[in-house]
Amino acid sequence: MRRSVVLGAGHFLPEKCLTNADMALIVDTTDEWIVERTGIRQRHIASEGETTSMLATRAAQAALADAGIDANSIDLIVLATATPDHTFPSTATQVQAALGITGGAAFDVHAVCSGFVYALTTADNFLKAGSAQRALVIGAETFSRILDWTDRTTCVLFGDGAGAVVLEAQDGQGTNADSGVLCTHLRSDGRHLDKLYVDGGPSATKTTGHLRMEGKEVFRHAVTNLAETVEEAFKRAGITAADVQWFVPHQANRRIIDATAKKLGIDPAHVVITVDQHGNTSAASIPLALSVAWHDGRIRKGDLVLIEAMGGGFTWGSALIRW
Ligand code: ACO
Repeated sequence: MRRSVVLGAGHFLPEKCLTNADMALIVDTTDEWIVERTGIRQRHIASEGETTSMLATRAAQAALADAGIDANSIDLIVLATATPDHTFPSTATQVQAALGITGGAAFDVHAVCSGFVYALTTADNFLKAGSAQRALVIGAETFSRILDWTDRTTCVLFGDGAGAVVLEAQDGQGTNADSGVLCTHLRSDGRHLDKLYVDGGPSATKTTGHLRMEGKEVFRHAVTNLAETVEEAFKRAGITAADVQWFVPHQANRRIIDATAKKLGIDPAHVVITVDQHGNTSAASIPLALSVAWHDGRIRKGDLVLIEAMGGGFTWGSALIRW
């Protein structure tokens, strides 16, 4: 059985960093409120001219260096973003050009905060089908560009950044002991547009728009949907929470992460948290957290890693990866 094996991971964060104290100079908020409700302490913000494709390229270069492979051996780039450089062409093709890759295919997927799980699933299916051999899977965002910086209920929550993994198709035995992506699960329910959306777009308004959210509603759905998708992963793989070395959830809110982990019986010591340092970086949050935990030595080769996310749409999903 073909498996999509992780060869390396990397990430990139803009230099500019806003603490909660900095946010309190922009909107009527406090460090105490933000930390208590979200766990966020700071977020990185792209400077003018620092685009999603630039962040993505830096993360991809770091992942390629970690994998020790040449960019030109990549024949597939799947990039998850809700904040592309341009309405078209795709940000993935900009990254492809910046990396000097002229072969293979590159495209974006759009599932907002679930984007990386969708991108990983897409790349995994291409590799398993034999349509590509080596893939770069990237999550990259500049959410700061679509925030309403006068709205304290949303602007304190998000940050910018990018993360990437390199996958290679290799033969496995078809068991949970294999290296690579073991299973993926995607879901969506388009009835929830009004709860989390951007109030602009090329077709609807001819503007870029700003992020709007009903926070309490999103919170409620997130815990239910995330627990459901993780339970499906456990059932499909025939494992329990105790078999997972690292739970790497989408980093939206510390309270969502804690509530989901508790519901699933996951030991907090096995949960990777970066939301305190990065805020919610949407599609970038999982690959950022994976890269941080891989490079600081928490995730080791052979570890079973569980990722999950929920985002606008709603979209949600999970994946089990033997690192
Ligand atoms: N600073 C200070 N006070 C604030 C702020 C702020 N930044 N934002 C809101 N408040 C106030 C409100 O105005 C309200 O005041 P009021 O009682 O006088 O009206 C009070 O705080 C409580 O507001 P709530 O919205 O009820 O606060 P809640 O406890 O629901 O927390 C939050 C808000 C943090 C957004 C929460 O609902 C949440 O985390 N939701 C999940 C949303 C999320 O994570 N979205 C990310 C995208 S989706 C995803 O990635 C899963």
